Amino acid sequence: MIHFRHVSKAFAGRPAVEDLDLHIAEGEFTVLIGTSGSGKSTTLKMINRLIEHDRGELTFAGEDISRFRAEDLRRRMGYAIQSIGLFPHWTVEENIATVPKLLKWPATRIRERVSELLELLNLNEGQLRRRYPHQLSGGQQQRVGVARALAANPEVLLMDEPFGALDPVTRTALQQEIARIHSLSGRTIVLVTHDIDEALSLADRIVLMDGGRVIQQGTPHTLLTRPNNDFVRQFFGGSDVGIKLLGLGRVEKYVRQETFSGTQPPLCAGLSLREALSEFISRGTDKLPVVDGCGEPVGVLHFADLLAQSGGGNDGR
Ligand SMILES: Nc1ncnc2c1ncn2[C@@H]1O[C@H](COP(=O)(O)OP(=O)(O)O)[C@@H](O)[C@H]1O
Ligand SMILES: [Mg+2]
Repeated sequence: MIHFRHVSKAFAGRPAVEDLDLHIAEGEFTVLIGTSGSGKSTTLKMINRLIEHDRGELTFAGEDISRFRAEDLRRRMGYAIQSIGLFPHWTVEENIATVPKLLKWPATRIRERVSELLELLNLNEGQLRRRYPHQLSGGQQQRVGVARALAANPEVLLMDEPFGALDPVTRTALQQEIARIHSLSGRTIVLVTHDIDEALSLADRIVLMDGGRVIQQGTPHTLLTRPNNDFVRQFFGGSDVGIKLLGLGRVEKYVRQETFSGTQPPLCAGLSLREALSEFISRGTDKLPVVDGCGEPVGVLHFADLLAQSGGGNDGR
């Protein structure tokens, strides 16, 4: 859906992105990760032409992006950024409705869409609809920013460190919303972050950048188990890799269909193996009962099976 071929961009003669080759498939969740200054934001902004590339070929939906009018491109691509950029004198509803209004949707359709988005992003409608940005918490503002980016059903969602300034609890909740939106809508998402755990938990494909170049790209499992070089290995945690691999696996895939005899409180099948490991250790046991989302028993998780996961070639999903 979005293809970079040998794309470069320099600012005042200093390269920001060099010889970038990147292929983003429709429906894929791509995460660009790297240290500060590695060229992530520049890469993202070249997609919606907030920054024009200098050299190489950049296409969207099969067409060179210079053939689109920049406004059209931006309407087809939602964009959410860390500093939010909500209009301070507009209510939540007006902020979310920005693009639908530009597109001259009828008022009733806009109202319905705003309601739908408030619900999708877990924003309590009656309370928040008519509030102004300064009357919201940081987490609520970020949610409104994401709702605004999604408002006109863009084909692509571009996000630049959208959860950067949030506390860990709010951040995790918003990450879960984004993962849910992606699995519901199958929309193409490109997200920039410098948070490794965020990248590992959200991405179908991770693109690791450094000094304006792509160092390695692949599934989270590939980057953890088959790093191209020491930089990649160090970046993804060196000695922590085993724990991070456990974070990619879900309990449900490792449940044995057995009946549990004992009194341990159950694990939820949707937990990661990393969370399960923590339970095994804190409870000092090597078998735990597992229940599904409705609380129905589905079997037993064995500590020994976690070892098989972190060493094995399983793709973790
Ligand atoms: N508008 C700009 N003018 C001049 N230099 C810029 C501009 N935007 C980015 N840069 C430079 O380009 C490089 C890459 O920046 P950026 O893409 O923002 O990195 P990241 O998002 O990975 O932190 C940095 O060296 C940065 O200073
Ligand atoms: Mg940046």
